[in-house]
Amino acid sequence: MNKTLLITGGASGIGAETARRAATRGYKVALNYRSRDAQAKAVVADIEAKGGQAIALPGDMAREADILRMFEETERALGPLTHLVNSAGISARMRVDEYDAAALNRLFAVNVVGLMLCCREAARRMSTKNAGKGGAIVNVSSMAATLGGRLGSSAYAATKGAVDAFTKGFAREAAVEGIRVNSIRPGMVMTEMTEARLKEPAFRAGIEASIPMRRVGQSHEIAEAILWLLSDESSFITGAMLDAAGGGYII
Ligand SMILES: NC(=O)c1ccc[n+]([C@@H]2O[C@H](COP(=O)([O-])OP(=O)(O)OC[C@H]3O[C@@H](n4cnc5c(N)ncnc54)[C@H](OP(=O)(O)O)[C@@H]3O)[C@@H](O)[C@H]2O)c1
Repeated sequence: MNKTLLITGGASGIGAETARRAATRGYKVALNYRSRDAQAKAVVADIEAKGGQAIALPGDMAREADILRMFEETERALGPLTHLVNSAGISARMRVDEYDAAALNRLFAVNVVGLMLCCREAARRMSTKNAGKGGAIVNVSSMAATLGGRLGSSAYAATKGAVDAFTKGFAREAAVEGIRVNSIRPGMVMTEMTEARLKEPAFRAGIEASIPMRRVGQSHEIAEAILWLLSDESSFITGAMLDAAGGGYII
């Protein structure tokens, strides 16, 4: 079976690790990136060196025109889209009394609206209603969606709560059209999003004490769970939220 996978935010962290591992399992991979031109090209080169097929597509997930172009270019280069991972995301730390409308709008534009528009484009292509062959989608949410996030992360948590609610609704709509949609909720994972803070020993110790496994996660541990949700091995699972968080948080 032809497997064409588009990954947003695919040049770093969880998205890049998912891209590398997907390519070794027979997916043709389109990885989107915003500013990380060299990193995106390095992931493509790694995949090609191992005999896989990949392309890198620049685009800002807060811009609808970029999203439309990205889906068109993916299919032109790699064939009909069968799988999508929405990993592009930004975090923000601000207490409620520090909220800034522009920062909130940017957060929701990238983490929620961009992700929803990517799902729209995927649905239009994958739906059996439109002569598509079905497909599978994974939205990268966060454990922050469950508890409101760590202190100062309420706005970020709100975007991920929206991702989960949207995922459930979309999954119910698309189930009879051959599309499965799930979200994954990573806990604290070592990536470029978190590494600066995790380098502070006191912060890291506090985080590790709050995780039942007493350690942060690694990108490959999230990528493997994403790949399982994309695969036919999870064929009866849709509208689910999978926590990948070392047991959750002790609060
Ligand atoms: N690391 C964690 O502890 C953790 C926990 C829970 C959930 N998550 C979620 O996991 C996902 C991946 O994050 P990560 O941890 O792998 O961190 P990361 O390495 O920072 O990856 C996020 C990627 O998204 C890209 N991105 C941001 N805004 C974008 C935009 N407007 N258009 C296109 N790409 C954009 C970033 O590229 P640019 O820098 O070029 O914009 C970056 O490559 C995110 O959705 C994040 O919220 C992470």
